[in-house]
Amino acid sequence: MRNKVLVTGGTGYIGSHTVVELQNSGCEVVIADNLSNSKIEVLDGIEAITGIRPLFEKVDLSCAKECTEFFTKHTGINAIIHFAASKAVGESVVKPLLYYRNNLNSLMNILEAMKEFNVPNLVFSSSCTVYGQPDKLPVTEATPRKEAESPYGNTKTICEDIIRDTTKANPELKGIALRYFNPIGAHPSTKIGELPLGVPGNLIPFLTQTVAGMRAELSVFGNDYNTPDGSCIRDYINVVDLAKAHVVAINRLIEEKQKSNYEFFNIGTGKGVSVLELIESFERATGEKVPHKIVGRRAGDIEQIYADTTFSNKELGWKSEKSLDETLLSAWNWQVALNK
Ligand code: UD1
Repeated sequence: MRNKVLVTGGTGYIGSHTVVELQNSGCEVVIADNLSNSKIEVLDGIEAITGIRPLFEKVDLSCAKECTEFFTKHTGINAIIHFAASKAVGESVVKPLLYYRNNLNSLMNILEAMKEFNVPNLVFSSSCTVYGQPDKLPVTEATPRKEAESPYGNTKTICEDIIRDTTKANPELKGIALRYFNPIGAHPSTKIGELPLGVPGNLIPFLTQTVAGMRAELSVFGNDYNTPDGSCIRDYINVVDLAKAHVVAINRLIEEKQKSNYEFFNIGTGKGVSVLELIESFERATGEKVPHKIVGRRAGDIEQIYADTTFSNKELGWKSEKSLDETLLSAWNWQVALNK
């Protein structure tokens, strides 16, 4: 029997790329999304790539009633990937209750529904933000989590704990948290990619919009950090590689390969890249110049973080494959396609 996977937030950036990989691997997908930060047209892109239009339901999972109605209507789901969440770090500082209400309630409603409707498997979209600024780099899964820098980050830490405690109390439920580093790039088909609404807060959409002439120049936030070139270091992972990690995690749950009911993994490349190195890589890969200037540090930014992927590579049998140049070229090709 085909596996039926619910993807919450499936019209979002990472969600849509994951739906493509799930469908390519033979899964039946149903998307639940409230379209608060995505567009319904994303379904056209998914269909153009895979030939299959996933089932879609517009639903706010932070509302218990809507969540129950969803699971009553859509039966036979055997795994869930939970992406749907608010994710703007800065906004979360200004509106913490919005973030706690949305991100925590939706997860708790889903866990209640998993019990009620006998859905045993959950993959959760977590973040390297749970590590804060680690004392030692690279970070392994044994690296202690630190107090979050933002309410957004704190929701990821709390959600991980909610899943840990709930799977412990309900052994029929199983969970995997994937701690993403910095997902970037787009599907090589240019049919789906990141669709920021308004002025992008993240580096790559701001950079590609700048090169496309939509913004005057990119601000590099700080060159006085304790790093080789003074700019911040991150672990930039290709979004398709990241999407594939979800398929592996789903199979691990369904095939009961877990070592314990709740597991968590670092999903990155293992390579730290500075903002200035990234600009250089973009220029090399695309042949385009990136107009940029150095400005002051951005409040709340950590200096550097990158993953040790030894454990996830070995345990999951998954590895990021695409080079940074290739990934940046995909981000640029997506921007070009969007502007057409
Ligand atoms: C952060 C979170 C991540 C979260 C993401 C969502 C951490 C470690 N990471 O990523 O979990 O999912 O926000 O928004 O907390 N930069 C510039 N100029 C710009 C934009 C960014 O120089 O215009 C720099 C930043 O200073 C940073 C890097 O680019 O060094 C990446 O920034 P960004 O894309 O915003 O992601 P993070 O802040 O790393």
